[in-house]
Order: sequence, then C-alpha cells, then structure tokens
Amino acid sequence: MGQWEIFLSPYKQAVDELKIKLKGMRSQFGITGTTSPIEFVTGRVKPLASIYDKTLEKGIRFEPSHKLATELQDIAGLRIMCQFVDDITTVVNLIRQRDDLNVIEEKDYITQSKPSGYRSYHMIVEYPVETITGKVEVLAEIQIRTLAMNFWASIEHSLNYKYKGVFPEEIKNRLQSAAEAAFKLDEEMSSIRSEIQEAQVYFSENKEAYPTIPTTNEEKERE
Ligand code: GTP
Ligand code: MG
Repeated sequence: MGQWEIFLSPYKQAVDELKIKLKGMRSQFGITGTTSPIEFVTGRVKPLASIYDKTLEKGIRFEPSHKLATELQDIAGLRIMCQFVDDITTVVNLIRQRDDLNVIEEKDYITQSKPSGYRSYHMIVEYPVETITGKVEVLAEIQIRTLAMNFWASIEHSLNYKYKGVFPEEIKNRLQSAAEAAFKLDEEMSSIRSEIQEAQVYFSENKEAYPTIPTTNEEKERE
C-alpha cells in the first residue's frame, strides 16, 4: 500500500490545511463581533475502500494515476455547515475571493435539488500543496450546506449504506418527506433569522456566565 500512501499524502495535507483555513474564517467573524456564516467545518480524505468502490462505478483502474486524480474530484473533501440558507451564498463568495485556491466548478443542488431530495452547494477547487519535491495541485470538493441539509444527508447516507442504494418504497417516501421537512425548517429559520441572531450575539457576549461542556464529536469539531 506504499504507493497509495505516497499518492494520498498531498490530499491529507490539503485537507489539514483547508480545515485550518476555513475554521480561521469562522474565528475571524468571531473576533470582529459579527455572527459567523460558518457554524462548523469538517474534512476527510476519502477512505481507500470508497476510492475502490468509485473506480468500479466509473470503470477506471484502481491505481494511483493522473486519470484517477482527475476523475475522482472528492478524494479531499471539506464540509462547511451554516445556520441559514443565505449564509451559503456568503461562504461561496468568500471562497471565490480567495487567492490560495482556484474554483474550477460549482454545482448548485440547492436551487436544483437532486431527485433523492439531497441539497447542498458543491465547489470543486484546485489547491496547491507544497511538498519536499515541489508543488502539487490537488482537487478538493467543498460541500456547503445548512445544518438541516446536513442532518438529512447524513441520515440518507447511513440508510444508503444499509440498503446499498436500493431503498424500499416506504423508506424512499419517508426520506422525501423528511427532505421537505428540512426545507421547511430552513425556511422557518430564515424568516426569524434576525431574532435568532440578536439572541446569539447576546449569548456570545455573556457566555462566560454559562459553562459549556463539549459532549459530541460535532461539538469538538466546532472548536
Ligand atoms: P460522484 O457522485 O462523486 O461520482 O460525482 P458527481 O459529479 O455525481 O458528484 P455529485 O456532486 O453528484 O456528488 C458528490 C458528493 O455529493 C457525494 O460524494 C456525496 O457526498 C454528495 N451527494 C450527492 N448526492 C447525494 C445524495 O443523494 N445523498 C447524499 N447523502 N449525499 C449526496
Ligand atoms: Mg453523484
């Protein structure tokens, strides 16, 4: 597996660096006292087993190659979660403006959701990684979504895994109505956005008064 380790190492570097940079955007909003459009950021390098599955699906050879690097655009994956749908546009613009990466493709599954009910905004970016043997440009996929979109997608993803992509009719219908409910939730939250944000500014100014205990991984990701 040595060849794979060598091939994947710039992707790991890219994910680590981009995670720090995107989390940095979040903390900058915190410092300037403005509510952040970013709630939390996660990142991962696609596991080898998933890379293998994808090569079967796409009919390409399972070997470290230029072809694989260009066909699989999500070997490096970042996810940015937002509270409100409008925050997604803000984040997309912030990413477009950056000089340290190149946006090469955007997919808007928010105005045009997938037949499954999936909603998210995807950006494929080219990111230069400096290695001991020179600069390597790697592709990374940045998914930007609300907490509600993320909740739906993570549930659907687990069910997909369980049913290997073939859902019983009942489950398919339930997922579709859950997607509608998530969409409604986003709409409701948008409509009381200013109320919510006033409360959150108040809370962050007074947060010393409330001890917080990080309990879940998600909470830890927010740090
Ligand atoms: P691949 O799907 O990666 O072969 O390429 P593509 O060009 O079709 O990319 P697409 O933008 O459709 O999807 C890329 C990623 O979005 C996937 O790896 C998932 O993380 C996510 N995604 C897309 N569709 C769905 C969906 O229906 N459900 C869930 N849970 N995630 C999805
Ligand atoms: Mg797809």
